[in-house]
Amino acid sequence: MKQRIALAAALLLALVVVQGCGGDGYPQSALHPTSDFGHRLDGLFKQILWWAVVVFVIVVGVLLYTVFRWRERPERGRPREIHGHVLLEIGWTLAPALILVAIAIPTIRTIFLIDNPTADENALTVEVIGHQWWWEFRYPELGIVTANEAHIPVGRTVDLRLRSADVMHSFWIPKLGGKRDLLPGRENQLWFRPDSVGVFWGQCAEYCGTAHALMGMRVVVDDPGGFDAWVAANQAGPATPTEAQTRAGQAVFMGTACVSCHRIRGTAANGNFGPDLTHFGSRLTVGAGILENTPENLAEWIGNTQHVKPGNLMPQVRLTEQQVAQLAAYLLSLR
Ligand code: CUA
Repeated sequence: MKQRIALAAALLLALVVVQGCGGDGYPQSALHPTSDFGHRLDGLFKQILWWAVVVFVIVVGVLLYTVFRWRERPERGRPREIHGHVLLEIGWTLAPALILVAIAIPTIRTIFLIDNPTADENALTVEVIGHQWWWEFRYPELGIVTANEAHIPVGRTVDLRLRSADVMHSFWIPKLGGKRDLLPGRENQLWFRPDSVGVFWGQCAEYCGTAHALMGMRVVVDDPGGFDAWVAANQAGPATPTEAQTRAGQAVFMGTACVSCHRIRGTAANGNFGPDLTHFGSRLTVGAGILENTPENLAEWIGNTQHVKPGNLMPQVRLTEQQVAQLAAYLLSLR
Protein backbone atom coordinates (compact mmCIF):
# COMPACT_ATOMS: atom_id res chain seq x y z
CA MET A 1 0.00 0.00 0.00
CA LYS A 2 2.77 2.40 1.01
CA GLN A 3 4.63 1.58 -2.21
CA ARG A 4 1.56 2.33 -4.28
CA ILE A 5 1.09 5.70 -2.61
CA ALA A 6 4.77 6.48 -3.20
CA LEU A 7 4.42 5.50 -6.87
CA ALA A 8 1.28 7.62 -7.30
CA ALA A 9 3.03 10.56 -5.64
CA ALA A 10 6.07 10.14 -7.90
CA LEU A 11 3.86 10.06 -11.02
CA LEU A 12 1.97 13.13 -9.87
CA LEU A 13 5.23 14.96 -9.22
CA ALA A 14 6.53 13.97 -12.67
CA LEU A 15 3.31 15.31 -14.20
CA VAL A 16 3.69 18.61 -12.35
CA VAL A 17 7.33 18.90 -13.45
CA VAL A 18 6.42 18.18 -17.08
CA GLN A 19 3.57 20.68 -16.89
CA GLY A 20 6.15 23.25 -15.82
CA CYS A 21 7.62 23.13 -19.32
CA GLY A 22 4.57 24.60 -21.00
CA GLY A 23 1.48 26.70 -20.65
CA ASP A 24 0.88 30.40 -21.06
CA GLY A 25 1.75 30.96 -17.43
CA TYR A 26 5.35 30.16 -18.36
CA PRO A 27 6.75 33.07 -20.33
CA GLN A 28 9.97 31.25 -21.20
CA SER A 29 8.48 28.08 -22.62
CA ALA A 30 10.14 26.70 -25.75
CA LEU A 31 7.13 24.39 -26.20
CA HIS A 32 4.82 27.20 -27.32
CA PRO A 33 6.57 28.65 -30.38
CA THR A 34 5.28 31.87 -31.91
CA SER A 35 7.57 32.31 -34.90
CA ASP A 36 8.49 30.38 -38.05
CA PHE A 37 11.86 29.59 -36.48
CA GLY A 38 10.21 28.34 -33.30
CA HIS A 39 7.75 26.18 -35.24
CA ARG A 40 10.58 24.61 -37.23
CA LEU A 41 12.51 23.67 -34.10
CA ASP A 42 9.34 22.52 -32.39
CA GLY A 43 8.44 20.33 -35.38
CA LEU A 44 11.88 18.72 -35.31
CA PHE A 45 11.72 18.26 -31.56
CA LYS A 46 8.33 16.53 -31.76
CA GLN A 47 9.46 14.31 -34.63
CA ILE A 48 12.47 13.11 -32.64
CA LEU A 49 10.38 12.81 -29.50
CA TRP A 50 7.98 10.42 -31.28
CA TRP A 51 10.87 8.32 -32.55
CA ALA A 52 12.14 8.14 -28.96
CA VAL A 53 8.66 7.16 -27.74
CA VAL A 54 8.48 4.32 -30.29
CA VAL A 55 11.94 3.06 -29.31
CA PHE A 56 11.12 3.35 -25.61
CA VAL A 57 7.84 1.46 -25.94
CA ILE A 58 9.41 -1.35 -27.99
CA VAL A 59 12.48 -1.75 -25.76
CA VAL A 60 10.61 -1.55 -22.46
CA GLY A 61 7.79 -3.72 -23.85
CA VAL A 62 10.16 -6.49 -24.93
CA LEU A 63 12.04 -6.20 -21.64
CA LEU A 64 8.91 -6.46 -19.51
CA TYR A 65 7.55 -9.30 -21.64
CA THR A 66 10.81 -11.21 -21.30
CA VAL A 67 11.10 -10.68 -17.57
CA PHE A 68 7.52 -11.72 -17.00
CA ARG A 69 7.28 -14.56 -19.53
CA TRP A 70 10.50 -16.26 -18.44
CA ARG A 71 10.47 -15.44 -14.77
CA GLU A 72 11.67 -18.16 -12.46
CA ARG A 73 9.10 -20.84 -11.68
CA PRO A 74 9.92 -23.79 -9.44
CA GLU A 75 8.06 -26.31 -11.60
CA ARG A 76 9.95 -25.30 -14.77
CA GLY A 77 13.50 -25.48 -13.46
CA ARG A 78 16.37 -23.48 -14.98
CA PRO A 79 15.57 -22.05 -18.45
CA ARG A 80 17.73 -22.95 -21.45
CA GLU A 81 20.54 -20.48 -22.14
CA ILE A 82 20.98 -19.20 -25.69
CA HIS A 83 24.19 -17.68 -27.07
CA GLY A 84 24.25 -15.73 -30.31
CA HIS A 85 21.41 -15.17 -32.77
CA VAL A 86 22.36 -13.94 -36.24
CA LEU A 87 18.96 -12.49 -37.12
CA LEU A 88 18.70 -10.61 -33.83
CA GLU A 89 22.24 -9.25 -34.21
CA ILE A 90 21.46 -7.93 -37.68
CA GLY A 91 18.09 -6.61 -36.50
CA TRP A 92 19.36 -4.56 -33.60
CA THR A 93 22.22 -3.15 -35.63
CA LEU A 94 20.11 -2.23 -38.62
CA ALA A 95 17.08 -0.82 -36.79
CA PRO A 96 19.00 1.89 -34.83
CA ALA A 97 20.96 2.78 -37.99
CA LEU A 98 17.71 3.33 -39.89
CA ILE A 99 16.23 5.35 -37.03
CA LEU A 100 19.36 7.53 -36.91
CA VAL A 101 19.06 8.19 -40.65
CA ALA A 102 15.38 9.03 -40.22
CA ILE A 103 16.32 11.55 -37.51
CA ALA A 104 19.38 12.90 -39.34
CA ILE A 105 17.54 13.89 -42.54
CA PRO A 106 15.05 16.38 -40.98
CA THR A 107 17.73 17.55 -38.50
CA ILE A 108 20.22 18.46 -41.22
CA ARG A 109 17.48 20.06 -43.30
CA THR A 110 16.42 22.22 -40.32
CA ILE A 111 20.02 23.16 -39.52
CA PHE A 112 20.57 24.44 -43.06
CA LEU A 113 17.22 26.23 -43.11
CA ILE A 114 17.83 28.20 -39.95
CA ASP A 115 21.53 28.72 -40.64
CA ASN A 116 21.18 30.39 -44.04
CA PRO A 117 20.88 34.16 -44.12
CA THR A 118 17.30 35.27 -44.51
CA ALA A 119 16.07 35.54 -48.08
CA ASP A 120 13.47 38.13 -47.03
CA GLU A 121 14.43 41.49 -48.54
CA ASN A 122 11.89 43.26 -46.40
CA ALA A 123 13.54 42.02 -43.18
CA LEU A 124 14.09 44.48 -40.35
CA THR A 125 17.73 44.55 -39.27
CA VAL A 126 18.38 44.70 -35.54
CA GLU A 127 21.89 44.65 -34.11
CA VAL A 128 22.11 42.87 -30.78
CA ILE A 129 25.19 43.50 -28.66
CA GLY A 130 25.77 41.49 -25.52
CA HIS A 131 27.36 43.28 -22.57
CA GLN A 132 28.09 42.12 -19.03
CA TRP A 133 25.15 41.95 -18.12
CA TRP A 134 22.68 43.67 -20.36
CA TRP A 135 21.55 43.82 -23.98
CA GLU A 136 21.97 46.62 -26.47
CA PHE A 137 19.62 46.81 -29.46
CA ARG A 138 20.39 49.00 -32.47
CA TYR A 139 18.10 49.59 -35.44
CA PRO A 140 20.49 50.94 -38.10
CA GLU A 141 17.71 51.62 -40.66
CA LEU A 142 15.63 53.50 -38.10
CA GLY A 143 18.35 55.28 -36.12
CA ILE A 144 17.16 53.84 -32.81
CA VAL A 145 19.32 52.60 -29.94
CA THR A 146 17.74 50.97 -26.92
CA ALA A 147 18.56 48.44 -24.24
CA ASN A 148 17.14 45.30 -22.69
CA GLU A 149 13.85 45.64 -24.52
CA ALA A 150 13.42 45.29 -28.27
CA HIS A 151 10.26 46.05 -30.20
CA ILE A 152 9.57 44.20 -33.43
CA PRO A 153 6.52 44.13 -35.69
CA VAL A 154 4.38 41.01 -36.01
CA GLY A 155 4.50 39.18 -39.34
CA ARG A 156 7.76 40.73 -40.51
CA THR A 157 11.10 38.93 -40.56
CA VAL A 158 13.68 40.34 -38.17
CA ASP A 159 17.29 39.86 -39.15
CA LEU A 160 19.35 39.91 -35.97
CA ARG A 161 23.09 40.63 -36.14
CA LEU A 162 24.61 39.37 -32.95
CA ARG A 163 27.93 40.38 -31.43
CA SER A 164 29.52 40.88 -28.04
CA ALA A 165 31.27 43.78 -26.39
CA ASP A 166 33.15 41.59 -23.94
CA VAL A 167 32.72 37.84 -23.34
CA MET A 168 30.52 35.14 -24.86
CA HIS A 169 26.78 35.49 -24.34
CA SER A 170 23.87 33.67 -25.94
CA PHE A 171 20.65 35.20 -27.20
CA TRP A 172 17.58 33.15 -26.41
CA ILE A 173 13.88 33.97 -26.46
CA PRO A 174 12.38 30.52 -25.98
CA LYS A 175 9.03 31.26 -27.63
CA LEU A 176 10.47 33.16 -30.60
CA GLY A 177 13.70 31.40 -31.43
CA GLY A 178 17.36 31.12 -30.72
CA LYS A 179 19.57 30.37 -29.07
CA ARG A 180 22.60 31.79 -30.78
CA ASP A 181 25.95 32.81 -29.33
CA LEU A 182 27.23 36.37 -29.28
CA LEU A 183 30.98 36.20 -29.73
CA PRO A 184 33.61 38.88 -29.34
CA GLY A 185 35.20 39.65 -32.71
CA ARG A 186 32.57 37.87 -34.82
CA GLU A 187 29.08 38.59 -36.05
CA ASN A 188 26.45 35.88 -35.89
CA GLN A 189 23.07 35.99 -37.52
CA LEU A 190 19.64 34.84 -36.48
CA TRP A 191 16.29 35.57 -38.05
CA PHE A 192 12.68 34.75 -37.41
CA ARG A 193 9.21 36.03 -38.22
CA PRO A 194 6.97 36.38 -35.16
CA ASP A 195 3.35 35.34 -35.71
CA SER A 196 1.68 36.67 -32.53
CA VAL A 197 1.79 39.96 -30.69
CA GLY A 198 2.82 39.94 -27.05
CA VAL A 199 5.67 40.43 -24.61
CA PHE A 200 8.26 37.68 -24.80
CA TRP A 201 10.86 36.90 -22.19
CA GLY A 202 14.45 36.23 -23.09
CA GLN A 203 17.53 35.20 -21.23
CA CYS A 204 21.26 35.00 -21.75
CA ALA A 205 21.93 31.31 -22.25
CA GLU A 206 25.72 31.18 -22.04
CA TYR A 207 27.49 31.59 -18.72
CA CYS A 208 29.13 35.02 -18.86
CA GLY A 209 30.05 35.89 -15.28
CA THR A 210 28.55 36.79 -11.93
CA ALA A 211 25.23 38.25 -13.09
CA HIS A 212 24.67 35.84 -16.00
CA ALA A 213 21.46 34.47 -14.51
CA LEU A 214 20.14 38.03 -14.19
CA MET A 215 20.83 38.99 -17.81
CA GLY A 216 17.28 38.96 -19.07
CA MET A 217 15.41 40.90 -21.71
CA ARG A 218 11.97 41.49 -23.14
CA VAL A 219 11.01 41.43 -26.78
CA VAL A 220 7.73 43.15 -27.51
CA VAL A 221 6.03 42.01 -30.70
CA ASP A 222 3.73 44.87 -31.75
CA ASP A 223 0.96 45.05 -34.31
CA PRO A 224 2.14 47.19 -37.26
CA GLY A 225 0.45 50.37 -35.94
CA GLY A 226 1.92 49.87 -32.48
CA PHE A 227 5.38 49.32 -33.93
CA ASP A 228 5.19 52.48 -36.04
CA ALA A 229 4.14 54.43 -32.94
CA TRP A 230 7.06 52.98 -30.99
CA VAL A 231 9.47 53.91 -33.79
CA ALA A 232 8.14 57.47 -33.96
CA ALA A 233 8.39 57.86 -30.18
CA ASN A 234 11.94 56.51 -30.11
CA GLN A 235 13.15 58.57 -33.04
CA ALA A 236 12.08 61.70 -31.18
CA GLY A 237 14.39 63.06 -28.51
CA PRO A 238 13.77 62.45 -24.82
CA ALA A 239 10.99 64.24 -22.97
CA THR A 240 12.03 67.52 -21.38
CA PRO A 241 11.45 67.46 -17.62
CA THR A 242 8.85 69.99 -16.57
CA GLU A 243 7.98 69.24 -12.94
CA ALA A 244 10.19 70.30 -10.05
CA GLN A 245 10.89 66.69 -9.05
CA THR A 246 11.94 65.55 -12.53
CA ARG A 247 13.99 68.70 -13.08
CA ALA A 248 15.80 68.07 -9.81
CA GLY A 249 16.37 64.48 -10.92
CA GLN A 250 17.88 65.64 -14.18
CA ALA A 251 20.26 67.90 -12.25
CA VAL A 252 21.30 64.93 -10.09
CA PHE A 253 21.84 62.78 -13.17
CA MET A 254 23.91 65.39 -14.98
CA GLY A 255 25.92 66.19 -11.86
CA THR A 256 27.07 62.65 -11.02
CA ALA A 257 29.00 59.78 -12.60
CA CYS A 258 25.81 58.62 -14.39
CA VAL A 259 26.72 60.73 -17.43
CA SER A 260 30.01 58.99 -18.06
CA CYS A 261 28.35 55.60 -18.64
CA HIS A 262 24.85 56.35 -19.93
CA ARG A 263 23.56 58.26 -22.89
CA ILE A 264 20.42 60.34 -22.99
CA ARG A 265 20.19 61.67 -26.51
CA GLY A 266 20.21 65.45 -26.78
CA THR A 267 21.79 65.98 -23.36
CA ALA A 268 25.32 66.15 -21.97
CA ALA A 269 25.03 62.48 -20.95
CA ASN A 270 26.93 60.71 -23.70
CA GLY A 271 28.45 57.58 -22.15
CA ASN A 272 28.30 54.28 -23.94
CA PHE A 273 29.45 51.79 -21.32
CA GLY A 274 25.98 51.33 -19.86
CA PRO A 275 22.51 51.14 -21.43
CA ASP A 276 21.14 54.08 -23.46
CA LEU A 277 18.46 55.70 -21.29
CA THR A 278 16.90 58.09 -23.82
CA HIS A 279 13.46 56.45 -23.52
CA PHE A 280 14.00 54.51 -20.31
CA GLY A 281 10.59 55.46 -18.90
CA SER A 282 8.78 53.52 -21.61
CA ARG A 283 10.52 50.24 -20.79
CA LEU A 284 8.84 47.44 -18.90
CA THR A 285 11.75 46.40 -16.73
CA VAL A 286 14.79 47.71 -14.92
CA GLY A 287 18.12 45.92 -14.48
CA ALA A 288 17.86 43.88 -17.73
CA GLY A 289 14.55 42.14 -17.26
CA ILE A 290 14.80 41.47 -13.54
CA LEU A 291 12.41 44.00 -11.95
CA GLU A 292 9.25 45.68 -13.13
CA ASN A 293 9.94 49.29 -14.00
CA THR A 294 8.12 50.99 -11.12
CA PRO A 295 9.27 54.02 -9.07
CA GLU A 296 9.91 51.79 -6.02
CA ASN A 297 11.92 49.19 -7.94
CA LEU A 298 13.87 51.86 -9.77
CA ALA A 299 14.72 53.59 -6.49
CA GLU A 300 15.86 50.24 -5.08
CA TRP A 301 17.96 49.68 -8.20
CA ILE A 302 19.66 53.08 -8.00
CA GLY A 303 20.04 53.14 -4.22
CA ASN A 304 21.11 49.54 -3.64
CA THR A 305 22.16 48.18 -6.99
CA GLN A 306 24.48 45.39 -5.80
CA HIS A 307 21.73 44.03 -3.60
CA VAL A 308 19.32 43.86 -6.53
CA LYS A 309 21.79 42.40 -9.03
CA PRO A 310 24.98 41.19 -7.35
CA GLY A 311 28.12 41.75 -9.41
CA ASN A 312 26.61 44.23 -11.86
CA LEU A 313 29.07 46.81 -13.16
CA MET A 314 27.12 49.95 -12.22
CA PRO A 315 29.08 51.71 -9.47
CA GLN A 316 27.11 52.59 -6.39
CA VAL A 317 26.74 56.36 -6.55
CA ARG A 318 26.29 57.88 -3.08
CA LEU A 319 22.99 59.71 -3.04
CA THR A 320 20.47 60.80 -0.43
CA GLU A 321 17.07 59.15 -0.38
CA GLN A 322 15.58 62.34 -1.78
CA GLN A 323 18.06 62.40 -4.66
CA VAL A 324 17.29 58.76 -5.45
CA ALA A 325 13.57 59.59 -5.62
CA GLN A 326 14.25 62.60 -7.85
CA LEU A 327 16.50 60.55 -10.12
CA ALA A 328 13.87 57.79 -10.40
CA ALA A 329 11.19 60.37 -11.24
CA TYR A 330 13.40 61.89 -13.95
CA LEU A 331 14.29 58.53 -15.53
CA LEU A 332 10.66 57.43 -15.55
CA SER A 333 9.67 60.67 -17.25
CA LEU A 334 11.93 59.76 -20.21
CA ARG A 335 9.23 58.26 -22.35
CU1 CUA B 1 25.41 37.01 -20.82
CU2 CUA B 1 25.23 34.94 -19.76
